[in-house]
Amino acid sequence: MNSSENRQKELLTKRAESIKSMFGSIAGVYDFLNALLSLNFDKSWRKYAAKVSGIKPDAKVLDVCTGTGDQAISYSKLLNGNGLVVGSDYCHDMLKYGLPKIKKRRLDNKIKLVEADTLRLPFRDNSFEISTVAFGIRNVADLEEGIKEMIRVIGPNGKVVILEFSQPTNFLFKKIYFFYFTRILPMIGRLISKSEVDAYSYLPQSVLAFPDRLNLKKKMELCGLEDVMFFTRTLGIVTIHIGKKPANP
Ligand SMILES: C[S@@+](CC[C@H](N)C(=O)[O-])C[C@H]1O[C@@H](n2cnc3c(N)ncnc32)[C@H](O)[C@@H]1O
Repeated sequence: MNSSENRQKELLTKRAESIKSMFGSIAGVYDFLNALLSLNFDKSWRKYAAKVSGIKPDAKVLDVCTGTGDQAISYSKLLNGNGLVVGSDYCHDMLKYGLPKIKKRRLDNKIKLVEADTLRLPFRDNSFEISTVAFGIRNVADLEEGIKEMIRVIGPNGKVVILEFSQPTNFLFKKIYFFYFTRILPMIGRLISKSEVDAYSYLPQSVLAFPDRLNLKKKMELCGLEDVMFFTRTLGIVTIHIGKKPANP
């Protein structure tokens, strides 16, 4: 590794560490603020992502960047007794708030939580049928490497499902939404979370810096996925991308 590659690696590690501690600092209010700031739409987005994933009732699903486990919970509801969802996240505190929710819903036979970095997943190749992520891949320090890890752990013909914020397509709605998203939302987030790192200003900044729908599709294809398609929800506030791992990768 030459010195510029070393420098790049150091920057990515630093970014990953600061994102991890940011989520650690808001873990206790994360679910409440999600529901409040999305006017409770977040639940229907995750439910829809699970529904369009093509999940079979006995599937093994990996939900990376699972946070407090809401996307894992949505998938688990579509499984029978043979199916399993593994939720992984590198932020211990986010998982800590997820575990009691899973137990309370008596889903602990269907969901297992694992502390792990999405860039170094502790699973063998081809271990799952679906790997999924909700509002998480935008935060992974190296987007392409994150997608490649998600592909590595699924079998041939497996699916990668990415639910992420996106930019609304309607001009007028986009103006109104952006005013809310970049001005009002950070203010409410700051007041309620009392987070010193200003996680709720980071949210719109990271969404604006994230590839748009077509570019994300291209990136997924470059990473090796095929038949990549996407669905927008709620006037384009969020988009779900789904790609298939080739039968003979
Ligand atoms: C916005 S939250 C999303 C949580 C959850 N998926 C949801 O739908 O609410 C983003 C999560 O990604 C996690 N994360 C970011 N980078 C990660 C990485 N490299 N490895 C594992 N988790 C990561 C954070 O710890 C955080 O819990």
